[in-house]
Amino acid sequence: KQDAPAAPAAEASAPASAAAPAKVYVVGTDAAYAPFEYQNEKGEIVGFSVDLLTAVAEKGGFQIKFVNTPWEGIFNALGQGDRDLLISSITITDERKQTMDFSDPYFDAVQLIAVKEASKVTKFDDLKKLKVGVQTGTTGDEVVTKLQGKTSANIKRFESTPLALKELEAGGVDAVVADNGVVIHYVANNPAVKFKTVADTKSFAPEQYGVAVKKGNAELLAMVNKGVAAMKADGTYAAIYKKTFGT
Ligand code: ARG
Repeated sequence: KQDAPAAPAAEASAPASAAAPAKVYVVGTDAAYAPFEYQNEKGEIVGFSVDLLTAVAEKGGFQIKFVNTPWEGIFNALGQGDRDLLISSITITDERKQTMDFSDPYFDAVQLIAVKEASKVTKFDDLKKLKVGVQTGTTGDEVVTKLQGKTSANIKRFESTPLALKELEAGGVDAVVADNGVVIHYVANNPAVKFKTVADTKSFAPEQYGVAVKKGNAELLAMVNKGVAAMKADGTYAAIYKKTFGT
């Protein structure tokens, strides 16, 4: 037999004490996106985004913890309050701005095409009839969907960008379209796969990454913006950039 229902939770009505533990903001990130957010050999979430937001939180005097969050569920997790912040190389777009708020931009990016070295692709338009791998729901997915049409059977969507690149290696797709930083990192770190990159500044609009908060969370957004501005001003941003990209 069950015990009588418990009395209403005591802690709910207890007066807030001065010793209450500080809030730890939960940060969602899809940690399969080196060098921005990824897991090291120990399984720790590391990378440019992690260093950046850690410095922002330190400067702002608030606490954060990173939780690996698959890209496909990441915006829902924010909307439902399971995550307070997202930093995941998220491009600020008008469409996303309808359902979440973004910090000031902290990084410039652009789409880049990865193909095998022998490929004849020289521009984005060449992908019109080819099999193209993208990460589902990314800006890479958006541009390829626009090029080939919503119903195209030649767009292969993957859960992560590395999976799309693996498929290129295996020959299942002819090209991958993804953010430049990630493609460049992958090609540089996998010399055995013999990829090359094809840039097309005429076809791809500039993108900017922002930290996302739940729509209306102005207080947290202000804390993030203040921290980003401070670290740009005092050289911390440049140091983290250099640590990640070497320049
Ligand atoms: N910048 C692209 C977008 O916002 C891709 C981001 C993917 N990030 C990740 N951690 N997988 O759509």
